[in-house]
Amino acid sequence: MKPNLHIFDTPEETARAVSEIILSKAKEKTKHSNPLNIALSGGNTPKMLFEILVNEYENKIPWYFVRLFWVDERCVPPTHPESNFGMTYESLLKNVPIPDNNIFRMIGEADPEKEAKRYQELLITQLPSSKSVPQFDLILLGMGDDGHTASIFPNDLSLLDSEQFVVTSIHPVTDQKRITLTGTTINQAEEVVFLITGSSKAEVLDQITNHKLDFKNHPASYIHSQSGSAQFYLDKAAAAKILIQ
Ligand code: 6PG
Repeated sequence: MKPNLHIFDTPEETARAVSEIILSKAKEKTKHSNPLNIALSGGNTPKMLFEILVNEYENKIPWYFVRLFWVDERCVPPTHPESNFGMTYESLLKNVPIPDNNIFRMIGEADPEKEAKRYQELLITQLPSSKSVPQFDLILLGMGDDGHTASIFPNDLSLLDSEQFVVTSIHPVTDQKRITLTGTTINQAEEVVFLITGSSKAEVLDQITNHKLDFKNHPASYIHSQSGSAQFYLDKAAAAKILIQ
């Protein structure tokens, strides 16, 4: 399936466009008093999104109806500089009126295997299911310059169609243990949105969107939503090689 590309001049404009998706989905859900279940990614890219959500959307989004989960977490405590939850707390959570009960963090400091099992059970109890898979309304993903997404790395593509919904994985360069949603869970989401910015992603994005060279080795190549392609929200720098086709 060809991914749906949305290309903007700057990282800020790209992040603002993703903020609009969150706002419109939250409004849609609120109409029927239903929660909006979102899974967030970590890394650096989301920081711009979180900054815009705080500065421009704090009073627009019905945070009471937003429930936040994580796509993946590094197996470190939340106070660790590499913690995805820690980054999200500092950038977003402490600055918006989202109820504590709406925040479902992966416990990075726990035993990884036990936490993967716990989080899988939590998704089963907290989310509606589709084809017997816990279903998120929206999953926000980033992509590494090696084509990984979530903590599904090129050396373990089997996680894309695992029988599990949440597993542990290991970063191939740093050997850091991770907890991650599997492709099984991600691909069952109602909507999947990649937020990718910066020139370091341009080569891999070109391969993925144009099915070139190593695209079959890139986990992000296999990501879609329950009903169709993933949405790629890109700045011009990340889309540079796609644009010159
Ligand atoms: C993580 C993320 C990961 C991230 C990519 C891109 O825990 O690192 O979930 O999948 O989205 O590595 O990271 P950057 O946004 O820092 O480029």
